[in-house]
Amino acid sequence: MKLLILAGGFHEKLPYEELRSLDLDIKKRNGRIVVGETENVEKLKRLGYSHLVLEYLGSFGLDEKLPFDPKKYIEGKFAARFKKLGFSGDFEEKKGKILGELNPSIETVDLKDPDTTFYFLMKDKTVYAGRLIHRIDPDSFKERESESRPYSRPVSIPPREARCWVNLSGIEKGESLLDPFCGTGGILMEAGLIGCKVYGSDSEADMVSGSRINLDYYGLGGEVKRCKVQELGKRWDRRFDAVVMDPPYGRSARVSGDEIERLYSEALDRIHEVLKDGRNCVFGAPKSIEPGRIVDEKKFLIKKRFEEKVHGDLIREVFVLEKI
Ligand SMILES: C[S@@+](CC[C@H](N)C(=O)[O-])C[C@H]1O[C@@H](n2cnc3c(N)ncnc32)[C@H](O)[C@@H]1O
Repeated sequence: MKLLILAGGFHEKLPYEELRSLDLDIKKRNGRIVVGETENVEKLKRLGYSHLVLEYLGSFGLDEKLPFDPKKYIEGKFAARFKKLGFSGDFEEKKGKILGELNPSIETVDLKDPDTTFYFLMKDKTVYAGRLIHRIDPDSFKERESESRPYSRPVSIPPREARCWVNLSGIEKGESLLDPFCGTGGILMEAGLIGCKVYGSDSEADMVSGSRINLDYYGLGGEVKRCKVQELGKRWDRRFDAVVMDPPYGRSARVSGDEIERLYSEALDRIHEVLKDGRNCVFGAPKSIEPGRIVDEKKFLIKKRFEEKVHGDLIREVFVLEKI
C-alpha cells in the first residue's frame, strides 16, 4: 500500500530510520512529508517519532485539481484537515479551492468525530493528500513521561525516543527484549506496549523495584532482576531477540572516561553472550566515547550511528549494532 507519513521534527535522521526499520520503503521525501510503500500498515501504528499515517491519494500543484475522487473514499461523515508546513502559495485560497471540490455540507461533514478524515499537507507549492489510517496520539506518550510514572528518576529518555530505539532494534511483536541498564523501566515499557516480552536488569535494588512498579502501573508484565551488567551471561539463562539500553554517561566527577569506556566494552562483551546471532543491540553513548575502544569488530558490526544534542554540552550517539 502507498502511504503518506507526516514525520516529527524530533531529529533530522531518526524518524526516517525508524520508518525504514518498520519496513516502509521510502520513495520520496519533502521535509517531514514522506511518501512510501509497505505491505504491513499495521506495523507502522507502533511509531514513536511520527505524527500521521495516511493512505496516499496523490500530490498536486497550486493550479491543479484534486488528484482523487472524494466520493470513492468517503465512508460515513468526513472532515478535511490542512497542515501548513512551509507552504509558499496562498493558503486560504488553496484551502478554499480544495473545500469547493470536496463539496462539504451539513449532511456529509462531522468535524468532531468523522468516519473519514482527509489530510492535506502543504509544503512549498505542492499539496500532498491522504486519508487517515492512524494518528500517533501525543497524549498516550505524555502519560508515560518520567514525572507521570509512580517511580521516577531524572535518568530516563523520553517515551517517544525510547519507542524509536525499540523500533530501530528491528524487534517483532512477541519477541524478547532485554534492557540490562533498565533504570525506571522506560525502554521496557515502550517495548511491552508493542507486544514484546520484556526483561530488565539493573545493578541498583531501588531501580529494580521501581521498574517493576512502573510496568505494573501501566498494565505490563515482564521480568526484572538485580544484576550487574558484568554478570549478564550468568544471571540470564536465555537468549534475546534484541537488546536496547541507555547506560550511564559517566558525567559525574567520580567516574573517569576510562571507567565509562570499560563499562561499555564489558557490557557489549556480555551482551554478545545473551543476544541471538544476527540480531541488534541499540544504545546511546556520550560522543566522547570512541566506538573503536568499546565495540569489538569481531563480535559486532556497527550498522548505524546518529548524533544528537541532549542538553548543555552533552552530545549523544545512538548506535545500532548487529551481532556477528
Ligand atoms: C541512564 S540510567 C537508565 C535509564 C532507563 N533507560 C530508564 O528508563 O529509567 C542507567 C542505569 O544503569 C544502572 N547501572 C549503572 N551501572 C551498572 C552496571 N554495572 N550494571 C547494571 N546496571 C548499571 C544505573 O543504576 C541506572 O539505573
